[in-house]
Amino acid sequence: MRILRDPASMQRQAMKWLRAGTRIGFVPTMGYLHEGHISLVHEARRRVGASGVVVLSIYVNPTQFGPREDFTKYPRDFRRDCRLCREAGVDVVFTPSDDSMYPGREAGDYSTYVVEEQLTQGMEGVSRPTHFRGVTTIVAKLFHCVLPEVAVFGAKDWQQAAVVSRMTRDLNFPVRIVVAETRREPDGLAMSSRNRYLDPDQRRQATVLSEMIALARAEVARAKRPIPAGKLRERLAGLAFSRPAARVDYIEFFHPETLRPLEKVGPGTHLALAVFVGATRLIDNGSL
Ligand code: PAF
Repeated sequence: MRILRDPASMQRQAMKWLRAGTRIGFVPTMGYLHEGHISLVHEARRRVGASGVVVLSIYVNPTQFGPREDFTKYPRDFRRDCRLCREAGVDVVFTPSDDSMYPGREAGDYSTYVVEEQLTQGMEGVSRPTHFRGVTTIVAKLFHCVLPEVAVFGAKDWQQAAVVSRMTRDLNFPVRIVVAETRREPDGLAMSSRNRYLDPDQRRQATVLSEMIALARAEVARAKRPIPAGKLRERLAGLAFSRPAARVDYIEFFHPETLRPLEKVGPGTHLALAVFVGATRLIDNGSL
């Protein structure tokens, strides 16, 4: 497994592969890998086959964090990440520096961003107004470095996957976006690098997100007709309220592809949640 640290060497390597007809699968991450990330690596491998290559990027992208968010304390463990990548059969870990990805940004002369204007308007886009501009910009830049045929994203970040798919279509990137299922802990908590911020009591209470999804599914299955979104939202908020460490940021019901909010909830409606557990903001989602 090779480790590449700058965009030019990553591009040179990717162009060599493409000239040789080698298929490139890509898993973008911010590191501190867990089983969820490794399942994305396996999915990328399945897509490109044994003769293809899998690149995983590790880059904690500063532009997708708001000024009061956890950029500086975001967990990092490069040695462990590399071990997990080697075991999972990653061919190249691409881990660029801030200077190489955003030249001149510290001095205030980095000035090019990629912005998606529709799917970013709700949910994470409201709570984290500059987040998606950072995500689309870095994903576009990573695509230019890695030149993948297929890129795999996790379904836990449902809105992110939709935004990246839209950007890929709108800007004609020759990349197939694959969205892989969310991996969960045995008690239902969606795997996330941020779970490590939780103390043991918060960790127990954090199962409330998957319980809210299960409750919504049960209500939809039980109802004979579509349920008003406001009524179901209240029911789920009540469940969150029963956990002292939990504070709801949003509960949204929407169309899974257009992300348009829905007033009536029925089978096939998508639910997304953002809930603070203590100071840690967790997200989850599921089809009802
Ligand atoms: O989902 C993530 O880890 C990040 O948002 C991504 C896609 C790697 C971009 O920094």
